[in-house]
Amino acid sequence: MNTIGILTSGGDAPGMNAAIRAVVRKCIYDGINVKGIIRGFNGLISGDIKTMDIGSVADIIHRGGTILLTARSEKFKTEEGQKKAVENIKKHKIDGLVIIGGDGSFRGAQVLNRLGIPSIGIPATIDNDIAGTDYSIGFDTAVNTVIDVINKIRDTATSHERINVIEVMGRDSGFIALEAGLAGGAESILVPEVKFDINKVCDKIIRGYQRGKLHSIIIVAEGAASGFGISESIKTITGFETRVTVLGHIQRGGNPTALDRVLASRMGSKAVELLENGEENKMVGVIGRQIVVNDLSEILVQKKEFNYDIYKLAEVLSI
Ligand code: F6P
Repeated sequence: MNTIGILTSGGDAPGMNAAIRAVVRKCIYDGINVKGIIRGFNGLISGDIKTMDIGSVADIIHRGGTILLTARSEKFKTEEGQKKAVENIKKHKIDGLVIIGGDGSFRGAQVLNRLGIPSIGIPATIDNDIAGTDYSIGFDTAVNTVIDVINKIRDTATSHERINVIEVMGRDSGFIALEAGLAGGAESILVPEVKFDINKVCDKIIRGYQRGKLHSIIIVAEGAASGFGISESIKTITGFETRVTVLGHIQRGGNPTALDRVLASRMGSKAVELLENGEENKMVGVIGRQIVVNDLSEILVQKKEFNYDIYKLAEVLSI
């Protein structure tokens, strides 16, 4: 393995930069050249590829976003795009790739593996919806961002005795909603994995107000319902005043937490080690505090299990 390429793809996630830094520094430490591909798979197709040195990753461990830029590449889904990508990989003498992103990026990694380019995936998505790992890079930071917002909204919700609905990201999954909802003490957490009854949500709100509660926080995962829709229903059913906050891309930015930086550093280094050892078509993960290695093909056909115990706990504690 003389030269390793690295790219970030799909939605950015805080900690991607720390992962890039880890890959670049581990390569240089081990005497391997490293090339950065700009704009994910699109950069492979256009040949936007640059040599990375120690300095190129200085002062980025604490920054959100990705210095390599990112994209969701439609062109790479075509045979023509894939052919061009392989040509550029060969032209730049890249022997293996580290691909940082979510499931769409890993599907791309699988294609490259099939085309004879050893590729290793590092899970990075705020959604945390990748099987085979407890954490994806960026999830912890996103959850902490949501908690920060919940704390702030709680202040004004209490002052005005309102119901505040907060819509969070997560695509088709409710992992952000679940963890942020539990940690933020939300009254109800609506996720796509659990069927909800809006009347029960409202009953709980009414019971709370009868006990003298001054506010209610309802967390809605974007995959479960629209925050505005839920807010309207609650207003109609309870007659209480409601407000909505759709957090959107705020959740994708900001300085990565210590957990995300450490995770990204460990995963980045492990990915390089795997390529050095002749591995391909693998994804690095973390289970508990242990770094693990999964087959990419197996990961892509699995759905990450939702933690129903935590969901139940959140219900118990928000009675
Ligand atoms: O996958 C990350 C994510 O932020 C999802 O939570 C969200 O549904 C989606 O990306 C938003 O995508 P875009 O950045 O294209 O608006």
